[in-house]
Formats: sequence, C-alpha cells, structure tokens
Amino acid sequence: MSKVYLQAAIDIAREAGAVLREEVQRPPDIAYKGDFDLVTQADRRSEALIVSRLQTLFPEHAVAAEEGSGRETGSEYRWHVDPLDGTTNFAHGYPCFCVSMALAKGGDLLLGVVYNPIFEEMFWAARGEGAHFNGKRMQCSKIGELRKSLLCTGFPNTKRHTLPNIHYYWDFTLHSHGVRRDGSAALDLAYVAAGRFDGFWEFGLKPWDTAAGVVLVEEAGGKITDLDGKPYVLGGKSILATNGLIQAEMEKMAAEIKKKESVQV
Ligand code: IPD
Ligand code: CA
Ligand code: CA
Repeated sequence: MSKVYLQAAIDIAREAGAVLREEVQRPPDIAYKGDFDLVTQADRRSEALIVSRLQTLFPEHAVAAEEGSGRETGSEYRWHVDPLDGTTNFAHGYPCFCVSMALAKGGDLLLGVVYNPIFEEMFWAARGEGAHFNGKRMQCSKIGELRKSLLCTGFPNTKRHTLPNIHYYWDFTLHSHGVRRDGSAALDLAYVAAGRFDGFWEFGLKPWDTAAGVVLVEEAGGKITDLDGKPYVLGGKSILATNGLIQAEMEKMAAEIKKKESVQV
C-alpha cells in the first residue's frame, strides 16, 4: 500500500477537522434529511474540502461520500468518506464527532483514518502496518469476559421505531459493566481499537460510517463480524466489533436475544 495514500488521508482529515473546529463555534445551520436525520453547513463544508483534495491528488479514484458529492470513475480504488460522523452531537456542541476516511482497492480495505478535531485525537491504521493513536501503536483490550467489559452501541437516525436495538441494549447492559451510546459509530470503532471499549454493535450503518473503523479494529488485533457471526460486509444489516476475546460470548448473547425477542433483521 502506498504511503502516499495514508499520508494524504491523515493530512486531509486534519484539514477537514479544522473546518469542523471552526464551524462548531457558530450557531449550527441545521437542515433535515429525515425526521431526525440532521445535516449542517459543517457536513457540507468538510465534504467539499475532502472531495476537492482527493480530486486534486488522485483524480482517477472513486469517492463515496455521505452527502453525495463523491464521484464514480470506474477505478478499483474507492474512498469511503464521512465528512462529519456524529452530526447530532456536533449540532448540540457535544464534542464527540469526527472525520472518517478509508481507502479500498477492489473491495479490500487498505487504510482507515478517524480524527476527532476537538480532542485532537488521530487514529489511523493500514493493512499490515498496525493501528496507531496519536503517533503510538494501539491495541484492543485484553478483557476476556463479557461481564467485565465496557461496550458501546448506537441507534440510527432513520426508521427508529422499527429497529430492535433496545432489546440488545437492555440485555448487554445487564451482562457487562455497561453500554455507552456516544453517537459516532466511527469513533466507537476507533475506541474499540484503542482498548477504551471492549465491544461495539449496531444495526443499519453505512459504508462511510464503518470502513475506517473496520481497518482500525482489525489492525489493533480485534475481530469484526455481523451479529450472526458471519463475515461483515460494508453496508450490511449489522456489525459486531470486539477485542476478539469476547466475540463468541457476544455472538451467543445476540443469538439468544434474537430468538427471545423474535427479532427480524
Ligand atoms: C451517525 C452516527 C451514529 C449512528 C448513526 C449514524 P452521522 O452518523 O455514526 O453513531 O448511530 O446510525 O448515522 O449521521 O452522524 O454521520
Ligand atoms: Ca456517519
Ligand atoms: Ca456524516
């Protein structure tokens, strides 16, 4: 994997992060994509910057960006871009949001970068080169039991009443140290990679939410599947990301919840 791609992703994420830092000082300019699905001026400004930098540096690469300004080029290289993951947090001034960028070649994820511009926390990973946090190697936690784990999850902004996650939230809360709900899937995955959380699950995430985080977790020694224990595909119905050690226990509990609650996903 070319170091040029990784350095570009780190530099661009920092630059887009500076835009978010500037925008968060202003009253948010909120529009709605759905009943509770927010988009702000900051999402658009950050995305415009990222897409334009990628266009200049790698004009042949395809770009899939959340707010729709990406491009199809027919290239086997594809950037997955979330210019602001955690928009609801951003709009309320809750400092848990980030820029998330990943590069795939022919469907294989090569690298991922997640940057929280408020805490100036940079997480990056590249295939075979490990996962890194602010210049140092990072590893998933070594906690091997669900009952001693700190977990996280998220709830989608769309079709909220039809999703079954509250059942999973309830049962996993009763069988762990607790379940956090921070509102940024990309940061949730980065935190699993950094050993802050031991496991994360969610339903209905999009490729730009998870692509970077998947590389981070895998390169930090963790495991990613869907909630049924099958291989995770970007944009799949569910994701389960753990330190690897509690994966089997979480899969087992997810299967029990699914059966008990007759969950259809
Ligand atoms: C959202 C966040 C949130 C997750 C939602 C996503 P956005 O992304 O990742 O944690 O629960 O499903 O849509 O809209 O803030 O980019
Ligand atoms: Ca997102
Ligand atoms: Ca977003």
